[in-house]
Amino acid sequence: MIRKVAGQPSLKGEIELPGDKSIAHRAVMFNAIAKGNARITNFCGGADCLATVGCIRALGVEVRRSRASPGTVDVQGVGDSGFQEPKDVLNARNSGTTMRLLAGLLSGQPLLAIITGDSSLRSRPMGRVVEPLRLMGADIQGRNDGRLAPLVIRGSHLRGIRHTLPVASAQVKSAILLAGLFADGETSVLEPGLTRDHTERMLAQMGAPLKREGTLVTVSRPDTPLHPLTLRLPGDISAAAYWLVAGVIHPKARIKVTNCGINPTRTGVLDALQAMGAKLTINRKGATGGEPVADIVAEPSQLKATEIYGDMVVRAIDEIPVLAVAACFARGTTVVRGAAELRVKETDRIAYTAQELSKMGARIEELPDGMLIHGVGRLRGAEVNSHGDHRLAMSLAIAGLAAEGTTTIAGAEAASVSYPTFWSDLETVAGKPRTRG
Ligand code: S3P
Repeated sequence: MIRKVAGQPSLKGEIELPGDKSIAHRAVMFNAIAKGNARITNFCGGADCLATVGCIRALGVEVRRSRASPGTVDVQGVGDSGFQEPKDVLNARNSGTTMRLLAGLLSGQPLLAIITGDSSLRSRPMGRVVEPLRLMGADIQGRNDGRLAPLVIRGSHLRGIRHTLPVASAQVKSAILLAGLFADGETSVLEPGLTRDHTERMLAQMGAPLKREGTLVTVSRPDTPLHPLTLRLPGDISAAAYWLVAGVIHPKARIKVTNCGINPTRTGVLDALQAMGAKLTINRKGATGGEPVADIVAEPSQLKATEIYGDMVVRAIDEIPVLAVAACFARGTTVVRGAAELRVKETDRIAYTAQELSKMGARIEELPDGMLIHGVGRLRGAEVNSHGDHRLAMSLAIAGLAAEGTTTIAGAEAASVSYPTFWSDLETVAGKPRTRG
């Protein structure tokens, strides 16, 4: 699908964010192995989360999502040994979180499961999850000796390990911890940097024996099944990032996002923008589902370049493409380093961010592990392509809102992977229906 985004004279609006995608996956999977019913509200119906719902249903768990209220999902947990062997291949589609967390969840179950995905997911690294799970005794096969999906998992007897992650990854950490719930003895994961901790927060609330000491997390098999957890999902800060960047790069804007999750392991985007001089007003509002939330207002700002590296990269990993858009409007050269992980996301986000924004007049130099983004102060409309990557589609749309002229985005439908109402929210912010499919 092609979308045209015209540069706008002003931007204004209040956005009710889609529920957090990372937390939604976990809420469905973890409640599936709890004993009893749980209700998840503000569930984002993005394609990634629906992939998780499809896989969990295929394991024999009743997951209800009514047409009348698609943001409400009821999961009837089957307990720790209630999964049925799936009758067909499980399809994680574009979702790395679905595939990697399921690999951990299913490794200790007495069943055979095959998990595949779309061509992007089938080219992403799976060895990082297969290797530690094999050390726990898991029987997992895959293409290229388990480095690539489809993955074939034959549930087996697991034993706890103490594993040091070579790369900071919440998906790998979560997969190992989930396997640890079904393993003998303790399972510990030591991270090189603190990644998003939604798994730990949620499992602890559900009664799992889980300890945290800095970047070390330890779990063991619970004596009783997990308690179901009814929760309202916080707004997704990764979705909020688009509007916050739009609000600060545009010369005439006021955009508010409401009930945005501000878990400190996810707020690298706020820190990076504030370091650039962004005017963000953050009003904390308590917590939902064990996660802190805030309303945030973004207003036009004189941005200056910054450096994004180390922990900040981990805490803003999915927001770097849209931070690159902000950096185009900043004075000076923004440096992103230590972000080689971006090359193994849904696409190579270093190469494509540089390539596509350059078509709009950006000056971006690729580094093996990051980018140098030279502030140019303005962008111009161009014909660009998302390459099927949701984060790229939305970042290019935000660039288009602040650019001169019209930006034509091919592959615009990718936004619905994580943010199905993105294009209608864009029309709200633009104040008039200037976009068309
Ligand atoms: C996610 C973790 C991150 C992130 C992804 C969602 C999660 O991936 O990029 O979009 O929900 O755990 P990695 O674990 O590969 O860093």
